[in-house]
Amino acid sequence: MIKGLFLSFEGIDGSGKSTQARLLADHLRAQGRDVVLTREPGGSAGAEEIRALVLQGDPDRWSAETEILLFTAARRDHMERTILPALADGKIVICDRFADSTRMYQGLSRGDLRAVVDQLHTLMIPRDPDRTILIDMDPTVGLARAKSRNSVEERFEDFGISLQQQMRDGFLALSREFDTRFCVINGMQGIDAVQSDVIAAITPLLP
Ligand code: ADP
Ligand code: TYD
Repeated sequence: MIKGLFLSFEGIDGSGKSTQARLLADHLRAQGRDVVLTREPGGSAGAEEIRALVLQGDPDRWSAETEILLFTAARRDHMERTILPALADGKIVICDRFADSTRMYQGLSRGDLRAVVDQLHTLMIPRDPDRTILIDMDPTVGLARAKSRNSVEERFEDFGISLQQQMRDGFLALSREFDTRFCVINGMQGIDAVQSDVIAAITPLLP
């Protein structure tokens, strides 16, 4: 029997993923459940080091292919050290971004590399989320929210509105491709309304 429950949040920069992942973790912990809240790129010591390599410094530092390898290496370490042990203990893992972000950002933004992303995923990543919450959002609003944060990380938000629109469309296409795994939630609502939709989406999965 597969133990634990693995949930991921996806969406464009500024869509409210981190906010909702945190609120969901608080909600489930208040019910007495054991929750691991984590994020990508990162979520383990080694993967956090890789995060700095891929999100800081010159955006052209890595070729598109090397970048896919780095994100996949970070994910493999995160899986081995954080996600799989927690699931084996029967915990609920909530991950702020996961492999669908690589399918989008590395798979689409620097040429059509989706097949490479998927091949590496099949080889190296042994488990997919049980449910993926896609927070769908107008990129103009998401970008404004994301820009209001000050960060040293060279994020994809810096690529501007047309890439964000491409990512939004791509995430919606992914939600149709993996329609049993994805749940799409309207992110253009207040924080509480989005949270209610998230809770309604995952409650049927809880043990
Ligand atoms: P992401 O992790 O998707 O980039 P965040 O959760 O960090 O997004 O949210 C980006 C910003 O928008 C934060 O300042 C957050 O407080 C704010 N925010 C999040 N959700 C909402 C919402 N539903 N309505 C208005 N502002 C929001
Ligand atoms: P994140 O910290 O989640 O940013 P935000 O809160 O703005 O959504 O992610 C940082 C950046 O990393 C984000 O611009 C998307 C990018 N990213 C990838 O390009 N590929 C990936 O596989 C992941 C997980 C993130």
